[in-house]
Amino acid sequence: MFERLEAEFASRLGRECLYVPSNRFGLFIALRHRMDPGQRLLVSPNSADEILFLVLAAGLRPVIAPIDPRTGAIDAHAIDDLRFDGILTTNLYGVPDDVITLGRACAERGIPLIEDAAHAIQTSVADGPVGTFGDAGVFSLSKAAGASPGGIVAMASPSDRQALGELRDHWLTPRYPATELGILLKTAVRNAIVATSLARPVWELGQWLGMHEPRRGHRIPLRRAALAGRLTGTGTLYPGLDALAPWVRADNHHYRMRQGPLTERHALRRLKVLEATRERRLAGVRRLSQLETVAPGVREHLDQPLFRVPLLVEDRDKAIEALRRVGVITGYVYDPPFDDYAPGLVEPSPAPAAARWWSQHALPIDPLQTDRALPILTKLSAPTWTPSV
Ligand SMILES: Cc1ncc(COP(=O)(O)O)c(C=O)c1O
Repeated sequence: MFERLEAEFASRLGRECLYVPSNRFGLFIALRHRMDPGQRLLVSPNSADEILFLVLAAGLRPVIAPIDPRTGAIDAHAIDDLRFDGILTTNLYGVPDDVITLGRACAERGIPLIEDAAHAIQTSVADGPVGTFGDAGVFSLSKAAGASPGGIVAMASPSDRQALGELRDHWLTPRYPATELGILLKTAVRNAIVATSLARPVWELGQWLGMHEPRRGHRIPLRRAALAGRLTGTGTLYPGLDALAPWVRADNHHYRMRQGPLTERHALRRLKVLEATRERRLAGVRRLSQLETVAPGVREHLDQPLFRVPLLVEDRDKAIEALRRVGVITGYVYDPPFDDYAPGLVEPSPAPAAARWWSQHALPIDPLQTDRALPILTKLSAPTWTPSV
């Protein structure tokens, strides 16, 4: 299954690669492979809803890290006093985590480092591409590449392939070719309209038809009582993906479905488009980085074709509305931080203020949409209060 795509990633990354039907599925099997139920995993509070739920599904206890307000990522220099048995990075919007310091912390403790490279398919740091520093790095094909859902697990040790492959095959659900075709068509429509004046009416139609995941604010409803029941319902420390299906599947109800050759061919084509738009993406990053509202960490990575450029603005939700009116649809807003979203289900951060501030003010902008967004963005002001760094 997907040998050509795996070979393409293996040659880019110099690592053994395994295809999975989504990043979240890949993270789940990587965590299951490397960690035991009941162990603690250090995570960023500012990440996608499904990340929290797949960590819980793997039977792990999320330990919420303090963040660096310049990047929104785990503050690698503020974790020494925390207790954890593994680290999951985020590489939020493609801005790299401090993977060297985090890797050192993991090596000293003899614990795994797993890299969420969903947003960072084109990001490198000095020593190589994001996703090649940890025990496993997991990419998403549906983000910057605009392919239909899919992912790649790049592993440090080729000998992990068999165990990861077995875990994958255990958790995959059967392939429904009509569903797969529908997903590919939806993806093609999305790619065709994303940068046109149709983006807004199509988004509104989707909203009206109930095609978007229901949200309370920016996160899916927690449904705490139901979730607590599912977490303990199996009578073990390890609920698994079936028990947490309504949560882990947020925005992609087929995240576990086996896929076929059409999806692979489409993904290979989208990787070529990704390369072809690299220069435009970089140009957008450079222009957006000149805004006074840009997150300071972006300016340290102007050579990286980021997935989104995070700005930090006073009235973020009003800005999202204004952008929507000109056809720029904002996604990937992670608010509130996990410890405010799911208290009691996570170990809270010892220093939550910066993550709350980031969550409330972060406005991720697609660098490919710079022209359309800039007239709105230049009018936005920076937050009146900024946490000290
Ligand atoms: C930071 C981050 N990680 C992981 C994912 C999950 O990726 P996928 O949709 O491929 O499962 C997302 C999805 O939005 C994300 O934003």
